[in-house]
Amino acid sequence: MNHELEKLLGTSPSQNQEKFKREFEGFRKLFARFLQGKPHIEWSNIRPLPEGAITSYSQLPQGSKEQVADLLNKLVVVKLNGGLGTSMGCKGPKSVIPVRNDLTFLDLTMQQIQQLNKTYDVSVPLVLMNSFNTDDDTSKVLKKYATVQVQVHTFCQSQYLRINKETLTPVIKDLKVNDQESYYPPGHGNFYEAFYNSGLLQKFLDDGKQYVFLSNIDNLGATVDLNILNYLATDAKQPEFIMEVTDKTRADVKGGTLIEYENRLTLLEIAQVPKDYVDEFKSVSKFRIFNTNNLWANLAAVKRVVENNELEMEVIVNPKHLDRGVDVIQLETAAGAAIKSFKGACGINVPRSRFLPVKKSSDLLLLMSNLYDINHGSLTLSSDRSFQTTPLVKLGTSFDKVHDFLKRFQGIPDLIELDHLTVSGDVWFGRDVSLKGTVIIIANHGDRIDIPPGTILENKIVSGNLRI
Ligand code: UTP
Repeated sequence: MNHELEKLLGTSPSQNQEKFKREFEGFRKLFARFLQGKPHIEWSNIRPLPEGAITSYSQLPQGSKEQVADLLNKLVVVKLNGGLGTSMGCKGPKSVIPVRNDLTFLDLTMQQIQQLNKTYDVSVPLVLMNSFNTDDDTSKVLKKYATVQVQVHTFCQSQYLRINKETLTPVIKDLKVNDQESYYPPGHGNFYEAFYNSGLLQKFLDDGKQYVFLSNIDNLGATVDLNILNYLATDAKQPEFIMEVTDKTRADVKGGTLIEYENRLTLLEIAQVPKDYVDEFKSVSKFRIFNTNNLWANLAAVKRVVENNELEMEVIVNPKHLDRGVDVIQLETAAGAAIKSFKGACGINVPRSRFLPVKKSSDLLLLMSNLYDINHGSLTLSSDRSFQTTPLVKLGTSFDKVHDFLKRFQGIPDLIELDHLTVSGDVWFGRDVSLKGTVIIIANHGDRIDIPPGTILENKIVSGNLRI
């Protein structure tokens, strides 16, 4: 591979040679780790989590308003913004999809930070980690916040080379050719190095910042939490890294969990689990929590682990099929996997409300509905709902793309009393519909079901033209 990379570098336009050289260096390291093979997890060596490895959120002490304001002035908020909205049928960055009252993920994030800064009279900067896929579009959108009192910074994560699955060589042969399909952003684990390389990490340290809060931009529950910040800054363990975890339900059995392995707190992802233990991994009783990807770290420690090459994030091999018919793999890492490289790292078991990701249109349906109240960009479960859990919603493929999903609802139904909704086939909802209890609506192939305006469906199965 080294020879291939040297040859490829020779084809780069001279003005970009430095950039390619640096990117190749990171890629070379990742590729070398890939060749070493997957470190084998010896199942019997997994130890029970030691006392204090995971603290319950309810046990965190609260700081006074002055203490909190002081800590906020040392905080940098980073949102992972490298992903596209393609899986929801949208073009461009996922962060520009409207989620509530025409406000996008980015709008809501800006509102959250603006409100925080106003309430505590502080200046928490917002940093977006873009990828080459999202950088241009994000810069254009950011212009609309020119007058908003939030310091916004962006940096671009690395752009690595997709490699042919058979030959394990880069699919691109000439860097002068503009061929986006030959590159990929190497997962959010790239944050540490990319942030360091951007110069922003050092800039923030020089400005007196000490802490970073990192989260997915599509998780609207990932607001700045003052108790966690206070814990990061003041706990006697001096944690350099905190992962927010939350209780697993049967819907999230695939999420990564925390284990004690070789005397270190380690993130265990399903891809690392030996085949015979996958069911055990998924069980809610043995591995009770999963990673929300809300991560907190000490900035000086981030600098140290990058400079000392101490990050040992597992390589994730992501197979893809290119439009031109070639099977490739892309090598990625996940940010949470860095936990084992930090001293005093721990988990905090947070309420589910801090994990509100939007991956599918069914997630969007919940967030757009009256189940959530919105206040300065923060969403909270409505007090009108009698229980703290959200309904289980399954929408058929006709609802996959946001555009189609929106067309099918004249208005978002009242979901306050809903437990379970399954919709399949060609189904359309009128205005002011209420769904309560368990509702199943199935239009068979060739049928269309229109739910008339004002309908109340409570514990009902609607199928074809029949109502039972
Ligand atoms: P992912 O696509 O990795 O989602 O993006 P996920 O929740 O880990 O896993 P899936 O969707 O179930 O597969 C999480 C966040 O990380 C950003 C995305 O924009 C999103 O905010 N991201 C992801 C990056 O910034 N860069 C990347 O290379 C990958």
